[in-house]
Amino acid sequence: MLESMTLEEKLLQMQQVSCEPGYEEDFARFVKLGGGSFLHVLSDQADEVRDAAAKTNHKIPPIFGIDAIHGHSLLNGAVIFPSQLAIACSWNPELIGEMGRATAEEVNADGLDWVFSPVLCLGRDTRWGRVDETFGEDPYLAGELGAAIVDGYERDGNVVACIKHYIGYGEATGARDSYDAEVTERKIREVFLRPFRRAIEAGASTVMTAYGSIDGLPLTTHTRLLREILKDELGFDGFVVTDWNNIKSLCTKQLAYEKFEDATCAAVLAGNDMSMNSFGFYDAALALAREGRLPAEVIDDAVRRILRVKFSLGMFDPEKKRMPRSVIGCDEHIEINRRLTRQSMVLLENNGVLPIKDTPKRIAVIGPNADDLRAQYGDWTFFSHPKPKDHVDVKGDFYTALRGIKTVFADSEVIHLAGCGRVECEEDDRTIAEAVAAARECDLIVFVPGDDLSQNGEHKDRADLVLSGRQNELARRLHETGVPMVSLLVIGKPLCVGELAQNTDALICSFNGGDLGGLVAAEIIAGKVNPSGKLPISFPHHPAQIPCYYNELPGWHGGKYMDVPKGPLYPFGYGLSYTTFEYSDLALSSDRVSADDTVEVSVTVTNTGDRDGDEIVELYINDAVSTILTPVRELRGFERITLAAGESRRVTMTLPISELSIVYPDGHSAVEPGRFEIMVGGDPAALLVTELYVD
Ligand code: NOJ
Repeated sequence: MLESMTLEEKLLQMQQVSCEPGYEEDFARFVKLGGGSFLHVLSDQADEVRDAAAKTNHKIPPIFGIDAIHGHSLLNGAVIFPSQLAIACSWNPELIGEMGRATAEEVNADGLDWVFSPVLCLGRDTRWGRVDETFGEDPYLAGELGAAIVDGYERDGNVVACIKHYIGYGEATGARDSYDAEVTERKIREVFLRPFRRAIEAGASTVMTAYGSIDGLPLTTHTRLLREILKDELGFDGFVVTDWNNIKSLCTKQLAYEKFEDATCAAVLAGNDMSMNSFGFYDAALALAREGRLPAEVIDDAVRRILRVKFSLGMFDPEKKRMPRSVIGCDEHIEINRRLTRQSMVLLENNGVLPIKDTPKRIAVIGPNADDLRAQYGDWTFFSHPKPKDHVDVKGDFYTALRGIKTVFADSEVIHLAGCGRVECEEDDRTIAEAVAAARECDLIVFVPGDDLSQNGEHKDRADLVLSGRQNELARRLHETGVPMVSLLVIGKPLCVGELAQNTDALICSFNGGDLGGLVAAEIIAGKVNPSGKLPISFPHHPAQIPCYYNELPGWHGGKYMDVPKGPLYPFGYGLSYTTFEYSDLALSSDRVSADDTVEVSVTVTNTGDRDGDEIVELYINDAVSTILTPVRELRGFERITLAAGESRRVTMTLPISELSIVYPDGHSAVEPGRFEIMVGGDPAALLVTELYVD
């Protein structure tokens, strides 16, 4: 096919075009010419564009990309899953794979081919506005969950995945979205590359370049990272797409090039195969190719990669059928969502109030996020894109906390008041007083504070992560009523909730819980579901502690501030249950091994409470002595298990010794012989430890 294509036809494959308002002229032009890819086009519009492509000379179908990042979330009527950060709390790769498969079916049924998901950036600086899109702070967990969702997206050939944003985007200085990241290549290899490598091993077909720069070099023109490491070293044979207007921004925002043509040339030579928007790209690339500045082999390599992905999707196969539209929002997908949402809630505090034992006569559901679906959904849904909307007639079946409580506590009288805004507003004095007065007359308070899309999302970074407005004051005054109080956090990312934790009897975190967030929270409150999620990210006491990820390197003086408690408020790996688990008999298949061995790590886990429950068994390593400093603890395995009350199980996890390797400044990695610690448990503050020696 490549050989039969003209230069123009090849370069058209490398141009991706969006249909957003303001882009109408370019959109129409490339529909007619036969652009290689379109984004954010939905349903019937995709059919029209496809039909137009069938009338061009080469008839190559365009590939349609969409930000389907928690379900086919830009389509009203699709199943909206919890945000990526929320599902990471399940630590359940298999179920996350099923979510990917279900999403792929809905996207495919809608006429589209390509999901811009998963985000494999890490949420280490939680001031960053896009932490909700990550799998949290840990490279191993992000790698395993990322690989699982990629496999789910791609396994049936319905869509291809796009792993993004390559690379270091979450490390922007000061968490200012798209700014320079001060990370070394060694750090990239040690921390940030792992999730991308795992997702590529799992079959990811495309990669999206990040907006920012690393040590001053724009990611869009980073030959070393794109060509040498991604394509040559990792052997990635899919295609690379820029992020939104990256090439244009080299001239207008990053000020790296005066002329758009020079920016285009540098971006393609560095390894970008397709330009998202930056509409002059096609014309500039044509001129560059004619002048000989873009060699034919470079263009052919890019186009070959794009066509290969199109072939892998069966786009040239006239027999290939799409999924029926009836899969969109179907019961089977809703059930996957229910299971995943149930496993994704994290119980952070419980003084014994939960689960609620006697049906309350009256329940006060209070808080700005108690009945706000837009805040509950979080970013990248039909509520927020392409333009934020206050009201949408939602076609799917969804439950805010208010509806969830009304459904699950059908015999209770339920009253609802927002109580205050998420940001301070004039009415707060009055509404707080009204909410407190109403709550006093109830037997249970369900308080639902949080944030919303004005405080979260792309270029919505926050410096102050304390629960905003007067929500803390409202919590205190509600708690002072003496009525049992359960708080549910509907938040995009970890906030500083220490004050709230002091003023509530129980605290549940749902992050952005999707369609069923409010229902599952109510099921947990009622004890119908035993909470089992664990945090994939640390909650700081105070914003100035950030970053406070668990896998930090050792230092000299204890790593504490004089005015803030040491460590996070709730660490990575933490989460409570209605039952209790005990760990015993940690053992290794061998405690003396060599670098190319594998060791089996076994532990007995017992459910010592009186309820059945799920436990997530976490396996960490520590290189006790290493010439390059290594983290105090690093996750290297996990397993979710279900244990009946009183049941014991021996859990065995396989640890390849290569997982103990460290990265040296020249980029090579190796296991340094010596002593290692192997730690296993379900509570990061109480892990069992044993020693392992590598010869
Ligand atoms: C910008 C975002 O950074 C990226 O994540 C997204 O996929 C593209 N635009 C397309 O909307």
